[in-house]
Amino acid sequence: MTPKDTSTSPDLSLKKSSPSHQELHAHLTGSLSDATVLKLLRAKQAEGGAKLPQSAEVTIQRGHKRTLEECFEVFRILHCLTDNLSAIKTITRDVIQEFVADNVHYLELRTTPKSIDGVMTKNQYIDTVLEAMIDEMKMNNITVRLLVSIDRSRGLDDAWDTLQLAKQYAAHDQFKSLICGIDVSGNPRAGNLGDYIPVLQEAKQCGLNLSVHLAEVPNEKETLELLKTGLIDRIGHGTFIHPDTGGSQELSQLVKSQAIPLELCLSSNIKSGTVKSAEDHHFSFWRKDEHPVVICTDDKGVFSTTLSEEYKICAETFHLKKADLRELCLAAVELTFLSQEEKERLRLSVHTELDELTRLES
Ligand code: IMP
Ligand code: ZN
Repeated sequence: MTPKDTSTSPDLSLKKSSPSHQELHAHLTGSLSDATVLKLLRAKQAEGGAKLPQSAEVTIQRGHKRTLEECFEVFRILHCLTDNLSAIKTITRDVIQEFVADNVHYLELRTTPKSIDGVMTKNQYIDTVLEAMIDEMKMNNITVRLLVSIDRSRGLDDAWDTLQLAKQYAAHDQFKSLICGIDVSGNPRAGNLGDYIPVLQEAKQCGLNLSVHLAEVPNEKETLELLKTGLIDRIGHGTFIHPDTGGSQELSQLVKSQAIPLELCLSSNIKSGTVKSAEDHHFSFWRKDEHPVVICTDDKGVFSTTLSEEYKICAETFHLKKADLRELCLAAVELTFLSQEEKERLRLSVHTELDELTRLES
């Protein structure tokens, strides 16, 4: 691995001239910065037992691309570095601090609970992530919530296990307010999402919100089956749904009739090769149709980006004006998995901030 040794602690300077943002689609391990990867590598080296590849680039720089399979190989390598509770605590804290430094005031993190015999249980994994979230929220102006991820490549038993865990934490006195739902992710070419529908039905019955990675690669049959369940609250990517980007009228009608918002991650899609270029991104088609969308990073570390960079790419590519960007910011608040009361508070604070920015500019 050859991460840049720029700094061992994140840059905490806030960008005051642009509005704060809401990040609704960020995988914990995929969000690791080079600085954090370096920290973890050093810890492994200090232990003297690291069995790691000798050279592998973790981040994908601007203009560079990898196949989706290569991206999943990067996750596998990162998981070798995050195979203990101390590392989980470090990465959760670092990632949150980096989002703070990027002026993110509301963050929905997602991660698949992992266990390693004799090292950590899935409960300890989640405890550690939640405790780090609480610590960071005390020290920074950020609200963080967790989506517990089901990895479609791990099979149905693991998915039921993950759901049990999410239910347990959603009913936990100390932690329940921090769990905001279930994410379904993992290699889109692995397994069949249709098999997971009973798990999703139970999750929904338990009051958990559902964000599902859907149509990240073309798969009309699977996408149709999932959309017809009426269970999905937000779609991750949804690249091959709109008829203008390789989907179909039937798929896009199902999304529109249920008003399912899309979490759009431009750099992720471009760098992993599922979308040719920013100009070709499905953002423009859904926006033209006035469908709810939110700009997200997906894996800010792996794809070497930030949320403000994603907004910038979007603005430059689609000629968005300041007013459009502010409208996107406010729309993002509505798409969060917060309770109505918490949403109202966030809406108020974003309005106040935008009014203040407008006043400073005039
Ligand atoms: P973790 O769950 O915190 O370990 O974050 C990394 C995991 O997120 C990967 O192993 C994948 O399961 C999932 N992930 C990250 N990016 C993507 C994506 O673009 N598509 C599907 N799954 C993803
Ligand atoms: Zn994702």
